[in-house]
Amino acid sequence: MTDLRQQFIEGMSRAATFVSVVTTDGEGGRHGVTVSSMTSVSADGPAPSLLICVHQQSPAATAILRNRGFCANLLADDQQQLSDIFSGRFKPAEGDRFSAVDWAPGARGQPVLARASAAFECTLTTALLCETHYIIVGAVTGVDLSERTDALLYGQRAYRRAIKL
Ligand SMILES: Cc1cc2nc3c(=O)[nH]c(=O)nc-3n(C[C@H](O)[C@H](O)[C@H](O)COP(=O)(O)O)c2cc1C
Repeated sequence: MTDLRQQFIEGMSRAATFVSVVTTDGEGGRHGVTVSSMTSVSADGPAPSLLICVHQQSPAATAILRNRGFCANLLADDQQQLSDIFSGRFKPAEGDRFSAVDWAPGARGQPVLARASAAFECTLTTALLCETHYIIVGAVTGVDLSERTDALLYGQRAYRRAIKL
């Protein structure tokens, strides 16, 4: 069983993914967490939709469920530090995670991180607890696109850039 888990983790580490910081604000508090799990669901429903998987013990998961909204900020390839801040790898000397970064509320009040490659503001449509993680689906209400088109990647336990083959 342990071997299978280890093999799973090793296999998944080879699937380089882009890195997002999911932020949320509202009655449930302001929180943010780094994820590799942000994925498009559909561009062609009543609204475009995306999903994220967030550990049930993450304060951000509880806050998203309560706030019923979030913003998925796709990081640009020079924003490793934001990833480290919102994953808890780097602790700001003072203040919370948000005081260490540039951000502003989006049209629906969800925190949009400055200079992210793209920021998808969402309302919560579905949350499903699967084993340890919530699968959270959002209906996209707005997209901010920056001039930084190259997104940050994470694979084989390191940050990476995509190169054209
Ligand atoms: C590149 C990267 C990707 C991550 N992806 C996820 C993810 O998809 N879902 C998740 O729950 N945690 C993910 N984590 C872990 C969280 O960012 C965080 O470290 C962990 O949930 C502890 O969060 P907390 O300090 O907010 O409690 C990722 C961390 C890194 C560095």
